[in-house]
Amino acid sequence: MTVELREMRWWDIDQVLELEKDLFPEDAWSRGMFWSELAHSRGATATRRYVTAEDGTGRVVGYAGLAASGDLADVQTIAVARDLQGSGLGGRLLTDLLRAATAFECHEVMLEVRVDNLRAQKLYERFGFAPIGFRRGYYQPGNVDALVMRLTDPSASVQGTEING
Ligand SMILES: CC(C)(COP(=O)(O)OP(=O)(O)OC[C@H]1O[C@@H](n2cnc3c(N)ncnc32)[C@H](O)[C@@H]1OP(=O)(O)O)[C@@H](O)C(=O)NCCC(=O)NCCS
Repeated sequence: MTVELREMRWWDIDQVLELEKDLFPEDAWSRGMFWSELAHSRGATATRRYVTAEDGTGRVVGYAGLAASGDLADVQTIAVARDLQGSGLGGRLLTDLLRAATAFECHEVMLEVRVDNLRAQKLYERFGFAPIGFRRGYYQPGNVDALVMRLTDPSASVQGTEING
């Protein structure tokens, strides 16, 4: 089944919240948080890129979001439905975000990832992110540390790749 990436819209939020609760049970984002992010994702003054992955039946199977501030962008979230993890969709979503970072003219992209989330860390490393430090107890209530990773020159990591490929 083909999976297409497209801009996230407000009508995706119900399905996104289902995935969010399943994949981030300890610190799932609320409906209000997604609404607030999407409010900044359109028009000439947009500072956000939110993308949805949808299969041929209209099911949302992944999503990701990026926030830009001046020269710097932050990967806010990235998630793939359990049954599609490991199929390369995470890489496609991240490629979309890095293209958006380039379009926002950001020269650096940062993110936080749980120290125990090796799968996500591997994905970020593949795109050139390097660890630069830790934030102790960043994830609450579990008190899990975050590894902070940074990518310089996001345009270089996605050259020659296809968002839908
Ligand atoms: C992290 C996530 C978005 C990655 O999406 P994905 O579709 O699985 O990603 P891909 O298939 O493109 O790549 C996954 C990488 O992890 C590797 N991997 C697969 N299973 C793994 C495992 N059990 N442990 C470690 N690495 C693993 C794959 O080999 C691949 O590495 P490679 O690119 O070097 O081949 C997805 O796993 C997910 O939604 N996880 C739950 C939510 C989450 O943790 N989000 C990140 C928050 S920072």
